[in-house]
Amino acid sequence: MPAIIRLAVPEDAQCLPAIEICAAQAFRMIDELSWLADSPPMSIERHNQLIALSTCWVALDAESRPQGFLSAERHDNDLHIHELSVMQSMQGQGTGRHLIEAAKDYARSSRLGFVTLTTFTNVPWNAPFYARRGFRTKAATDLDPRLAAILREEYRYGFAPHSRCAMVWPVT
Ligand SMILES: CC(C)(COP(=O)(O)OP(=O)(O)OC[C@H]1O[C@@H](n2cnc3c(N)ncnc32)[C@H](O)[C@@H]1OP(=O)(O)O)[C@@H](O)C(=O)NCCC(=O)NCCS
Repeated sequence: MPAIIRLAVPEDAQCLPAIEICAAQAFRMIDELSWLADSPPMSIERHNQLIALSTCWVALDAESRPQGFLSAERHDNDLHIHELSVMQSMQGQGTGRHLIEAAKDYARSSRLGFVTLTTFTNVPWNAPFYARRGFRTKAATDLDPRLAAILREEYRYGFAPHSRCAMVWPVT
């Protein structure tokens, strides 16, 4: 059964960090990124901020329990995806795709220009997954100051040089 997607409500915030940790276990398959599986998730406070902005969506299982989420935030004419996570047991069933559709629908109905994100270039369920959803990679020389600053911060955090990219989906 396809997951049901709805806007997150404050009561969802406390279960979202556990979903992010579970989702991140996928990185154990990649030696140089396995440390991500033990990294701290987004805080409940931050989730609450994004939920209050009505730019966080959750995917529910048949018992209405959140199994995935997409957290985003508006920046001027863009909707920026901060995090997309689906419980490992639910991955590969279209939930991530449906969460992205919810973000795209929001961007469309809000008449925004772009949905943006940063991700790993060579992880199969990162940039290639978004590319199949219509996102295109921005050249490093063609980044606006906001996306360039996010990438700089990610490299300071410890990601390998050139491992990350910014992607955009022009709202259609
Ligand atoms: C990225 C993520 C949210 C996708 O959620 P999902 O519910 O599995 O997404 P879907 O079922 O809609 O699609 C999964 C796609 O990834 C691909 N995929 C998943 N795991 C893969 C793997 N190990 N190797 C290759 N491709 C893989 C699937 O083939 C599928 O491809 P498609 O575009 O042809 O449909 C989920 O994999 C996840 O939580 N990953 C860990 C956290 C993460 O990397 N988040 C993104 C940060 S930018």
